[in-house]
Amino acid sequence: MRKINFNEPYLAGQELEYIKQVFDNKQFGGNGPFTKKVERLLQERYSVEKVLLTDSCTSALEMSALLLEIGVGDEVILPSYTFSTTASAFLRTGCTLVFAEINPKNMMIDPIDVERKITRNTKVIAPIHYGGIAADVVRLRKICDENGVTLVEDAAQALDSYLDEKPLGTFGALGCFSFHETKNIHAGLSGALFVNDSDFADRATYIRERGTNREQVLKGLADKYSWVELGSSFYPTEFQAAFLFAQLKSLDENTLKRRDIYDEYNVQLLPLAENNYFSLPELPIGNKINYHAYFIIFNDELQCDYVRESLANDGVSAYIGYVPLHSSPMGKKLGYMPDDLPLTEEYAKRVLRLPFHNNMDIDDVQYVSEKIKRYTREFSD
Ligand SMILES: Cc1ncc(COP(=O)(O)O)c(C=O)c1O
Repeated sequence: MRKINFNEPYLAGQELEYIKQVFDNKQFGGNGPFTKKVERLLQERYSVEKVLLTDSCTSALEMSALLLEIGVGDEVILPSYTFSTTASAFLRTGCTLVFAEINPKNMMIDPIDVERKITRNTKVIAPIHYGGIAADVVRLRKICDENGVTLVEDAAQALDSYLDEKPLGTFGALGCFSFHETKNIHAGLSGALFVNDSDFADRATYIRERGTNREQVLKGLADKYSWVELGSSFYPTEFQAAFLFAQLKSLDENTLKRRDIYDEYNVQLLPLAENNYFSLPELPIGNKINYHAYFIIFNDELQCDYVRESLANDGVSAYIGYVPLHSSPMGKKLGYMPDDLPLTEEYAKRVLRLPFHNNMDIDDVQYVSEKIKRYTREFSD
């Protein structure tokens, strides 16, 4: 049986060559020449004040919580429709998580509900850009500015997506990215923190470097190597940075390939969406996406399950999106109830993410799409 995987990690081709250079450089532990090269590339490509490579997006989020000195009594507003660590990175400081509803047209956090949930204790709003689609960061940024709140973008899936030609991850004071192997480009595990507000730049380097001023000492800007902040060990090895350097250099080629896959899914599936068999996420005006994912929002849970299970029986792996955090086992332990967010609860069950990786060709997309058309019609007609 033909098998179509949901994801296959991308390989650019030159990864080993750069990893070999790490041996020549004899600097393995991180924050070395390759880390700096990658940071410089990202800084220049996206006009970012400062980029710090991290060992994961989770670490970048945890660094954000430390940088903003979030703690007991503070509130962080975030979607429930997200990955666990958007929440846990803040929760571990002792703050309160306030989950906001989604806009069911594209599964992004709903700014109207965010505004409703702001209190004088709100310190952070943390949207995510699901599948590389832009959350309404312009409106969220305005809400933040009006209320003295900091915007932290969880841009784990959004490298190289733009809104009105501005890169996602640069709208907030801080932007957190993932280079996990499931992302468009990766280093197995890795991530980055975009520090868009220069006030945070020095402290961010201390926090990443185990709370020490080691980097300043190495640069000759401080003479004693000491503990100066509450930090942790947040950076990747040079092996990961070298791997990522190869990937980053072929980002444009990678994106073009993904665009072909995305466009073909659209050609195949738009007619069904136009006939209301399901819907496709609405892209905000001015949103240039990175083609990270392709997802369908079905009309109900049963239809979604039927198509997903039928695909699985045919060797095609398609997955649900996130299980909402507020109604997850951990969310329940924290006292949240499924009814707190009825739209998130309902629509999360309807999302199906389709196979999407650079090893797919147009024929694979057509094969998957034909099956989706067949099983959707079979269920609905
Ligand atoms: C929205 C979001 N935030 C955070 C993460 C965590 O990223 P990492 O695995 O790099 O820690 C993910 C992972 O996919 C994610 O989708």
